Amino acid sequence: MTDDRLLTTTRVDEDVQYEAGLRPRSLDEYIGQERIRENLHVSITAARQRGEALDHVLLYGPPGLGKTTLATVIANELGVPIRPTAGPVIEKAGDLAAMLTSLQARDVLFIDEIHRMAPTIEEILYPAMEDYELDIMIGQGPGARSVKVPVQRFTLVGATTRTGLLTSPLRARFGIVHRLDYYTAADIEEIVRRSARIIGVEIEDEAAVEIARRSRGTPRVANRLLRRVRDYAQVRADGRISLEVAQRALKLLEVDEHGFDEVDRRLLRTIIDKFSGGPVGVASLAAAMSEERDALEDIYEPFLIQIGFLDRTPRGRVATPRAYEYFGLPAPGKDRLW
Ligand SMILES: Nc1ncnc2c1ncn2[C@@H]1O[C@H](COP(=O)(O)OP(=O)(O)OP(=O)(O)O)[C@@H](O)[C@H]1O
Ligand SMILES: [Mg+2]
Repeated sequence: MTDDRLLTTTRVDEDVQYEAGLRPRSLDEYIGQERIRENLHVSITAARQRGEALDHVLLYGPPGLGKTTLATVIANELGVPIRPTAGPVIEKAGDLAAMLTSLQARDVLFIDEIHRMAPTIEEILYPAMEDYELDIMIGQGPGARSVKVPVQRFTLVGATTRTGLLTSPLRARFGIVHRLDYYTAADIEEIVRRSARIIGVEIEDEAAVEIARRSRGTPRVANRLLRRVRDYAQVRADGRISLEVAQRALKLLEVDEHGFDEVDRRLLRTIIDKFSGGPVGVASLAAAMSEERDALEDIYEPFLIQIGFLDRTPRGRVATPRAYEYFGLPAPGKDRLW
């Protein structure tokens, strides 16, 4: 069986210790996502020239594509510190108020998983983002009054995989919104070569291509596969990653030729087996799979659609002939009887 953790795009424990060292620190080092890089370069340069804080930035897209990395890059390019936190970590309104009031002018406050902030805490952010002040209630009952506390002009960078779950007032307060997309094979190859340089392993270009092809357009998966292939090269070969070594390692690891994990396969099989190939609405599909609808829509579907295994039609999701082919099944043709 394939080790699902090997191909999952979400971060597993082992990634944590490696990712810091592999993270690009500047826009120049950041590979791919050209349009976002160019846009950010312009916005950041303009803000710096005016000596102002950058507008608030919302980054969204599937896991492992570089949102956290980009947040750090933005702070580095602005030449300011980054104060990281995450939606689920902020428990009390006071915690967030304390963070906001301790910010210096132009600092970056990074809120990861911003969609998981409690509504009462989120409300603190509105006036802070818009007018750079906090509305704080002092006292209780009839004597209670609200005081306005100023905060410095800061930049909020928010990251989320689920833009659909963001409330519209919050979303509307971001001046800069970017969606990260899956990387091209060429970009992933470059990322593999760069990471290999950093971890100090020699790799043939053809081997980088081989790893890139199976990384589902996701830098995190590419870096993880590279580490596993390096282990193999060290133990079963001379330490160098040649094409042959990469192929042998990936075969041994049972890495799927398309970088599918268990959920990808189950999603396609469910459409094919339980819904005759579709169309099926996403809610029914999620229920049949016992998965969260949001996860299907935000993490799994975009990749399957991008590589042509799934179609999104007005009447629902449809498994394409390529999906049937992948499972060795005959695609239902015009002559199908049901
Ligand atoms: N553009 C890039 N160039 C090179 N490496 C990258 C790039 N983007 C991401 N990476 C690598 O991929 C790893 C994962 O990226 P990151 O943690 O930023 O993803 P994320 O989008 O924040 O994921 P999550 O949604 O799970 O938080 C990083 O450690 C980094 O090494
Ligand atoms: Mg992240």
